[in-house]
Amino acid sequence: LDDPAVDPFEIAATAADDIARLTGVEHHDIAVTLGSGWGRAAELIGDETASFSATEVTGFSKPALEGHVGTLRSVRTPGGKNVLVIGARTHYYEGHGVRRVVHSVRTAAATGAKTMILTNGAGGIRETWKPGQPVLISDHINLTADSPLEGATFIDLTDLYSSRLREIARGIDPSLDEGVYCQFRGPHYETPAEVQMAKAIGGHIVGMSTALEAIAARQAGMEILGFSLITNLAAGIQQTPLSHEEVLEAGRDAEPVISALLARVIGAL
Ligand code: 6GU
Repeated sequence: LDDPAVDPFEIAATAADDIARLTGVEHHDIAVTLGSGWGRAAELIGDETASFSATEVTGFSKPALEGHVGTLRSVRTPGGKNVLVIGARTHYYEGHGVRRVVHSVRTAAATGAKTMILTNGAGGIRETWKPGQPVLISDHINLTADSPLEGATFIDLTDLYSSRLREIARGIDPSLDEGVYCQFRGPHYETPAEVQMAKAIGGHIVGMSTALEAIAARQAGMEILGFSLITNLAAGIQQTPLSHEEVLEAGRDAEPVISALLARVIGAL
């Protein structure tokens, strides 16, 4: 994937073949990427067909961080849909390039998935949000100054986070709030001034993933649903310093709620 002469879509097609061999499932309908806090949120989706380390699949790199489980699973819903559960995210801040960041999304598309559910743990800018609260992503602001698209690929990003899928999610939980997700490079959290900038330009959520993946998913023709688990309020919004431990803890506490939410939303697709 690091070789510019290599076609990333060919690597994704090979990865999809690996997944078909490892799972015995020829076609996946839905893919879901589990971000921080969402690690065990896939347990209620259905019955597991197969589970394996992402390192067994072409193009996937080793998990970099605690809280990011490098496991891929194939799960069958009660309604008979095959869901590819991606517990292995490569972050942009790891510095391995945007091709690696979006490889899982391109692989999901190559397995046949038409719906991409992207989840993350993120900081909230709205004071009314509470740690442990899931919110829908309504749109994003990509602050990485990068793109997964190479060359003159001019694609439209209107309704990137499908309003149709957001409606379905709100049918499951009418209390779901939504907001604009700002992807920063990280891995440091933002300064309070940067959080104020994000707020001023229309952001409500700050994080280090998802936007680049959503662009790749749109390019692949998938319909996208995005969820952020608010693990903490952003710097300067909350008065205490941010810690990765706090982020993980909010995820653990929210597990029963977001597991049920994810399973019910997937069941409704
Ligand atoms: Cl406050 N910022 C970013 N960029 N990512 C986060 C976060 C904040 N909280 C959890 N993840």
